[in-house]
Amino acid sequence: MSNNLLKGKKGIIFGALDPDSIAWKVAEACVEQGAEITLTNAPVALRFGELQKLSDKLNAPIIPCDATSVDELEALLIQSMDIFGSKLDFILHSIGMSVNVRKKKDYTNLNHDWMQKTFDVSAISFHKLMQSAYKLDAMKENGSILALSYIAAQRTFPDYSEMAESKALLESFARSFGYHWAMKKRVRVNTISQSPTMTTAGKGVKGFTEFFDYAEKMSPLGNASAESCADYCISLFSDLTRMVTMQNLFHDGGFSSMGMSPAILE
Ligand SMILES: NC(=O)c1ccc[n+]([C@@H]2O[C@H](COP(=O)([O-])OP(=O)(O)OC[C@H]3O[C@@H](n4cnc5c(N)ncnc54)[C@H](O)[C@@H]3O)[C@@H](O)[C@H]2O)c1
Repeated sequence: MSNNLLKGKKGIIFGALDPDSIAWKVAEACVEQGAEITLTNAPVALRFGELQKLSDKLNAPIIPCDATSVDELEALLIQSMDIFGSKLDFILHSIGMSVNVRKKKDYTNLNHDWMQKTFDVSAISFHKLMQSAYKLDAMKENGSILALSYIAAQRTFPDYSEMAESKALLESFARSFGYHWAMKKRVRVNTISQSPTMTTAGKGVKGFTEFFDYAEKMSPLGNASAESCADYCISLFSDLTRMVTMQNLFHDGGFSSMGMSPAILE
């Protein structure tokens, strides 16, 4: 159902790979709520993913961009502003990838060059994006910048490996750059800490299906779906949350506040 919460707003959505992607649902919800968007992903993901289908459905141009490249980020921001004929109201950073997890390395035996790559893709890209937008003055007053995180930033989930540190870094960038964006243009910067979700990135984590079931039982409202995450993103892109910034916001059906659940003991 559309309330036109984003009517007239323009934004960039990173990270839609296939219909399971959280960013895919966010893109659909943004357009349903009246926004105009551009879609972006790494060139390699454009070859293997299904982004063209989403682009056709939403009439949203695709602009390839490896989020670790400042040059490509700047080109994406400039091209998006050209398409919209204006600066941006919102950006979603929905990017995560761990080389060590992919290569099934144990946490006690990580390859540190790969770790640098993981941090660059999953966290430093967020700083690069915000810095590029800051330099180009690409955001409108009262805009909103969001990234997706996970509770492994605060608690230990052994199989999440170096992605835990990536998320801790990501959340810290949101707080630190959130200050500068607020002072410059009243732009909000937040992270949403989302429930485990059945996506390509999620399923890449060892034991994910079992853990998904555990979290479902541990959360009084159950796991938050990608669709409900999209709804939450819409609220954070809308003017209704214009005073929320520098926060890590749990969107997890209550998981983060639980100590013990009788559902698990059963
Ligand atoms: N799935 C989960 O359980 C879960 C839970 C909490 C948070 N998250 C976070 O949500 C976000 C989206 O992940 P998802 O679960 O929708 O999975 P996904 O695999 O659909 O999305 C990850 C995206 O990152 C993109 N990406 C990787 N390297 C890139 C690069 N160099 N430049 C640009 N894009 C690049 C991929 O192409 C892909 O589209 C990630 O930050 C992830 O960590 C996921």
